[in-house]
Amino acid sequence: MPKRPSQPARQLRSAASPACVRIAFCSQASRHSWSAFCVAAACTRGAGGGGGAASGSSHAATATTTNKSARTHRLYHARMSDPLELAQRLARDYLATVGERAVSPTPEAIERLAELRTPVPDGPTDAAAVLASLDAIGSPATMASAGGRFFGFVTGASLPVAVGASWLATAWDQNAAMSAMSPIAVALERVVLEWLRELLLLPEGSAGALVTGATMASFTALAAARRQLLARAGWNVDDDGLFGAPPLTVVVGEEVHVAVTKALGLLGLGRNRVVRVPADGQGRLRADRLPRLDASTVVCAQAGNVNTGACDPLGAICDAAAAAGAWVHVDGAFGLWAAAAPARAALVDGAARADSWAVDAHKWLNVPYDSGVAFVRDGAALYGAMTVPAPYLTTGGAPEPCHATPEMSRRARAVEIWAALRTLGRAGVAELVERACRHAARFAERLRAGGCEILNDVVLNQVLVAFGDDARTDAVVAAVQRDGTAWCGPTVWQGRRAMRISVSSWATSETDVERVADTILRCYDGASHKG
Ligand SMILES: Cc1ncc(COP(=O)(O)O)c(C=O)c1O
Repeated sequence: MPKRPSQPARQLRSAASPACVRIAFCSQASRHSWSAFCVAAACTRGAGGGGGAASGSSHAATATTTNKSARTHRLYHARMSDPLELAQRLARDYLATVGERAVSPTPEAIERLAELRTPVPDGPTDAAAVLASLDAIGSPATMASAGGRFFGFVTGASLPVAVGASWLATAWDQNAAMSAMSPIAVALERVVLEWLRELLLLPEGSAGALVTGATMASFTALAAARRQLLARAGWNVDDDGLFGAPPLTVVVGEEVHVAVTKALGLLGLGRNRVVRVPADGQGRLRADRLPRLDASTVVCAQAGNVNTGACDPLGAICDAAAAAGAWVHVDGAFGLWAAAAPARAALVDGAARADSWAVDAHKWLNVPYDSGVAFVRDGAALYGAMTVPAPYLTTGGAPEPCHATPEMSRRARAVEIWAALRTLGRAGVAELVERACRHAARFAERLRAGGCEILNDVVLNQVLVAFGDDARTDAVVAAVQRDGTAWCGPTVWQGRRAMRISVSSWATSETDVERVADTILRCYDGASHKG
């Protein structure tokens, strides 16, 4: 399935100089004519400026452009003079064809990345030429995760409206630190935090923060927890740090995501200085095995195991913590979205009784990277942990986003989230979540019927598949990745090698699911015959 350069692209190659060739070579068949004049313009404009893969000798540019009528050339030239228009065109072409190409880049596309390793350019290069070479070298070397058949990690695509909103937000170039810097960004941030809180069924009055992803969301929420629990013990961690501080106990499930342990390490609480509670066969923390909790304990629970999709028994964990005055943090990077789909909400029952939550918008909400959200029930704990006093940063009004987040300057992530939520509405978000779960269930059904072993209860959007022994499973994963129809990643689940199918893209259709199931079964067949 990997696409090779089209015939027209090859012809173009022979008509152009080596420098120009590089731009034309990887063009998709459906857009080679556009790329042709990108090549021409890149070479023409690059000739004076020099530097970069896009610049080249002007004689080849002449050879290419003289094939066009003067009128066409003028038209192209006019269009090329606007880098934003060109970028929009290239991006639209990319998205229009991303579903047709191989999901992972070809080895040739990866090899071409070496062309980017040039010395620092001595002089300027025309903006259009730069964009053209970025597209020519960059687009083929992307993973087609914007399409519907990338099932690796937990990767959402971007809803078209969210991409559009992101373009607008980039044009606005707002610093979303505080309202004096961007009234629109802060207004939208306040709106989306309320909407998200409500959709995720979290307690009214919780404070929120938009950050880069679930890792930073857990970092942010756990910073609030650390501050609060140490303050209770009479310790000011903001001023005095952890040197000589009363100890805190951190409890995690055996299947805690590494994002949480990373956050704990960054906060000085230690990646390994945690009490690990055994998990059940689906990876759920066993509430009956919790240690004795107290008011200096943080329990890190999970909604959505990255392998199985299973959710910890949040109600039981919160009950035990509430009785002891412990803090419960929920890492719900993708799983907390179950709350937004009525038919799945029971999986995260009790989540609202926790003290803080981390969730991603770039996963299941399908907005562009990077986009995560932290919520903390006690806003004072969050603002206390994140606010730094400076006369020029005070506004006297409601807390500003930079008083709730680790960053000061930050991009306006709320714009895309708002556009996605405004377009989808409550029903659309529920359907987005539900649809992915249905696709996951169908994968499990097809693969099980084809003789594969499904290792998890498919309750959300994650499917774990084994194809016999570890060696055969690895061979099937490698064959699927080579085939290019889809991309699924490997994992180890409770001592066994497995393939993960994570359905998180709005763009995945029923046809995609059937086609990819066929592909996986074909690869399984191939590996069985070999092995
Ligand atoms: C359960 C869980 N927590 C945290 C993360 C990390 O999220 P991010 O990469 O957005 O920081 C992931 C990523 O897949 C996850 O599945």
